[in-house]
Amino acid sequence: MHYSALVTLSCLLGFGAAQTIKGQFDCLPAGGFTLCQNLWGISAGVGSQSSTLVNSTSQTVAWSTNYTWANGPNNVKSYANVESVSSKGVQLANIASAPTSWNWNYATQSTGIRADVAYDIWFGKASSGNPATSASSFEIMIWLSGLGGIQPVGSQITTGTVVAGHTWNLWKGPNGNWEVLSFVSATGDLNSFDVDLNDFFTYLIEEQGVASTQFVQSIQAGTEAFVGTANLVTSSYSVSIVPK
Ligand SMILES: *[C@@H]1O[C@H](CO)[C@@H](O)[C@H](O)[C@H]1NC(C)=O
Ligand SMILES: *[C@@H]1O[C@H](CO)[C@@H](O)[C@H](O)[C@H]1NC(C)=O
Repeated sequence: MHYSALVTLSCLLGFGAAQTIKGQFDCLPAGGFTLCQNLWGISAGVGSQSSTLVNSTSQTVAWSTNYTWANGPNNVKSYANVESVSSKGVQLANIASAPTSWNWNYATQSTGIRADVAYDIWFGKASSGNPATSASSFEIMIWLSGLGGIQPVGSQITTGTVVAGHTWNLWKGPNGNWEVLSFVSATGDLNSFDVDLNDFFTYLIEEQGVASTQFVQSIQAGTEAFVGTANLVTSSYSVSIVPK
C-alpha cells in the first residue's frame, strides 16, 4: 500500500472537504474503508485517473472516480476501489450474514466505454493475506455492470444462475496461484444493489466446491477501467460481516 499522498492531503484539506488522489497507487483512509486508485495496468495504455472521497463514516462511504484511458482495449488499466477495513478475517463456515448495499451511477460516460463495476472479494487459507498474493486461493468477482463486451477471466460455466435474488452468468478460470470465479449480471446494470454476500459464499461452497474453511481476506468494491472516459459516482456503499 502506498500512503504517500495521505499526510499532505490531510494537512491541506479541512475536515469535510472532498479529497482527491491522483497518483498510481495513492490511497486515502475513508472511515471504515480505504479508498485506493490502484492504477496497476497503466503501462498497457495512455490516460489518467483521479479518485475523490466525498464523505465517509465507519459504516458507509461515498466516492467517485474520473478517468480517461485509451489503447490496449483488452487490458485493465485500473481498479479504483474502496476496501473494508474490518470486513475480513472470518472463515466462511463462521459467517451468519454479510449485508452490503451499493448505489452507483455513471455521471458521465463516453461512447465505446469498456469497464466493469464490480466487487473483488479475496479468499485464502489463512485468516489474513493481501489480495492478489501468494496468500490468495480464490478471487470472487461480482459484476454489477460490464460495458463494451468485456469478459472476466476464464470461460463461462453457468448461465442464468440465481443467487441473492439476481440472475448471473458465472465465469471461472485461473489467474496466477488463485482461482477466479466471476458472477456477471445477466440483467444489465444493477445500480441499486442490496444483498447478503453470504448467499454467494454459500452457493460457492455448495455448488462450486469452495472449502468452507477458507477465510475472507478482503472485500473490495470498485471499477475496472479498460478504455473510455467516465465519471463513476458511488453515492453510498456499505458492507459488513456478521459472524455466527
Ligand atoms: C470529474 O468529472 C466530473 C464530470 O466531468 C467533473 O464535474 C468533476 O469536476 C471531475 N472531478 C475531478 C476531481 O476531476
Ligand atoms: C455523502 O455524499 C453522498 C453523495 O453526494 C450524499 O448522498 C450523502 O447524503 C452524503 N452523506 C453525508 C453524511 O453527508
